[in-house]
Amino acid sequence: MADFVSTRRDGSVAIIIVDNPPVNALRQEVRAGLKDHFAAAAQDKTVEAIVLACAGRTFIAGADISEFGKPMAPPGLSDVIEVMENIKKPTVAAIHGTALGGGLETALGCHFRVAAPSARLGLPEVKLGILPGAGGTQRTPRLVGLEKAMTMIVSGEPIPAKDALASGLVDEIVEGDLTAGAVAFARKALAEKRPLVRVRDRTVEPVDAAKLDELTASLLKRARGLHAPAAAAKAVRWTLDVPFDEGLRRERDTFLELVRGDQSKAQRHIFFAEREAAKVLDMPKDTKAREIKRAAVIGAGTMGGGIAMCFANAGIPVTVVEAAQDALDRGLGIIKKNYQSTVARGGLKQEDMDRRVGLIQGTTDFGAVKDADIVVEAAFEEMALKKKIFGDLDRLTKKDAVLATNTSYLDVNEIARATNRPGAVLGMHFFSPANVMRLLEIVRGAQTAPDVLSTAIDVGRKIGKVPAVVGVCHGFVGNRMLRVRGIEAERLLLEGALPQDVDGALTGFGFPMGPFAMGDLAGLDVGYRVRKALGERNEIADTLVEQGRHGQKTGRGFYIYEAGSRTPTPDPEVEKLIVDTAARLGVKRRTIGREEILERLLYPMINEGARILEEGIAMRPGDIDVVWVYGYGWPVWTGGPMFHADLVGLAKIRDRLAAFAKQSGDKTLEPAPLLARLAGEGRTFASLAAK
Ligand code: 3HC
Repeated sequence: MADFVSTRRDGSVAIIIVDNPPVNALRQEVRAGLKDHFAAAAQDKTVEAIVLACAGRTFIAGADISEFGKPMAPPGLSDVIEVMENIKKPTVAAIHGTALGGGLETALGCHFRVAAPSARLGLPEVKLGILPGAGGTQRTPRLVGLEKAMTMIVSGEPIPAKDALASGLVDEIVEGDLTAGAVAFARKALAEKRPLVRVRDRTVEPVDAAKLDELTASLLKRARGLHAPAAAAKAVRWTLDVPFDEGLRRERDTFLELVRGDQSKAQRHIFFAEREAAKVLDMPKDTKAREIKRAAVIGAGTMGGGIAMCFANAGIPVTVVEAAQDALDRGLGIIKKNYQSTVARGGLKQEDMDRRVGLIQGTTDFGAVKDADIVVEAAFEEMALKKKIFGDLDRLTKKDAVLATNTSYLDVNEIARATNRPGAVLGMHFFSPANVMRLLEIVRGAQTAPDVLSTAIDVGRKIGKVPAVVGVCHGFVGNRMLRVRGIEAERLLLEGALPQDVDGALTGFGFPMGPFAMGDLAGLDVGYRVRKALGERNEIADTLVEQGRHGQKTGRGFYIYEAGSRTPTPDPEVEKLIVDTAARLGVKRRTIGREEILERLLYPMINEGARILEEGIAMRPGDIDVVWVYGYGWPVWTGGPMFHADLVGLAKIRDRLAAFAKQSGDKTLEPAPLLARLAGEGRTFASLAAK
């Protein structure tokens, strides 16, 4: 068996090394190894000081998340840390890469910490629906103060080494060889007879209670719907009220309660699903991504501009191509304005903005695509136009350029056939605003070459996106499911609900906004055009558009928006339109409860998700969850539609869908064969193997 923990010597300094690739997670063997090796070094009379270092790309990145939810095999991490912190010889953690969660808690079991300049340190447990469970909430405030600890623990955001040095979380930054620097630090501590103070014995500096309350409230505002951040904030405060050991005990109890809860299960599911979603099972092992040095974006509209920003933010030079000079100027102007507002908010330094803007070039010369290694087309959503563009790209781009379309609905295979190299074509579907939203649906065409697919995944990661690989169908995964929700939302209006009832049910569930407020934000004319092209009609939404009510941009849509405001106000005229339309269509309106509204909106989506799985459009149920959590605001603490379905129980969903189908006469609401089969067998979506 591999040595997860080993000790080597540098004179009288013992260097204990953790080696558990890829991220040195604290699996049971690592915990046991650390305990044994620290105890042995403590006993060994020839050892005067101890350095804890890690092999590979990072310091310990935390507990092994895959062990959560299973019975914990001893020793617990707190037991390991207890052994470490009671050693009467200087102990120094040497941190490179990321010291996260249990990793940072382990480092807090040492007397001292040194770090590489590029290291990052944090307690991201809240992102997994838990709180630090091995003393993090009790030790961190004793070292860095309550306010800093509160921010780190409640936000879960790691801090860079420089910041850690300033706040006292690390004692020194080591340029050059980190382990050698840590050994030198240990020797200096010995020579100077530095006092060996356990972090637990330090006193918490008192703070202004009102200021701390204000800080906590502002941190928790961003954690709407989540249980863990509030529990973590409470735990940090115990450092003021109870002795260390009592704080530790309470922290442990809260950790165990949270880790067993559905929120944490859901967030852990998303952690792993996010990493799986870009893994393509039939990708040949030796596939190599193509090198991307320069990008081009076709179209300087909202999407094109946002996509160009993504490349520039990642340091990739990008050329924006637009047909008319005025449209190009407008697009580039908006990009600049977006950056300026981030600078004004303090989110970006002026020099970084200048560098990014400098990476974006605009042109009306289509021939400029010749230098690009990847082209993302973000032109108007029209097949004829896209085919013309791809025909031109085929003639004008380098032989090995990757040609991507940002279409949200259209057939990527048909677009690919407009070229003589369909293997180079695929979809890269960004979500608005493209420079903010994390999801990137990568649409694999029938002929997309493996290395082209691999390049898109690689680029997606480089530009900070969460790539999810999906197949070709109308609307792919996200918009296809959104469409069925939209149909049901309109039906609910006719049957008795109002826009604010439908939207309220979804925001109550955890979405940032419901379909009608979202439609108003995006512009109701967008969906109108899509439906028209398909020969479909949405009685209420389409009438609104025909009345000139396009949403926020016209001050009126499903709601009214007072001048300059983004706050939706219900409109009696819309209510009248709904009531009249229902009467005209002979639909009898009734009171519909919030629970029924939710079921009617969410279950058809899950049903469509089952069809998407059956057709192989998504490889795994988790891929669908990733699409909805990162692209459409599905609340992460419910784990996405398919994970949520498993929690609700597939039999219940099957039965409700069957009832909805009967009641409405809409056969598409009948349970999908896969859903019916799994429900019948008492199984879950999670039990399916990927395909
Ligand atoms: N446990 C188990 N597996 C982990 C893991 C962990 N803590 N962290 C990462 N992995 C796995 C990933 O699933 C991935 O597996 P795969 O290759 O099979 O897909 C592999 O390690 C590499 O991870 P990434 O692809 O994420 O690699 P990056 O280099 O992009 O990022 C990282 C590295 C920043 C460390 C990132 O993986 C990360 O944020 N990990 C989670 C860190 C974390 O949340 N730690 C706290 C855990 S909870 C805890 O410690 C509780 C304690 O208080 C008791």
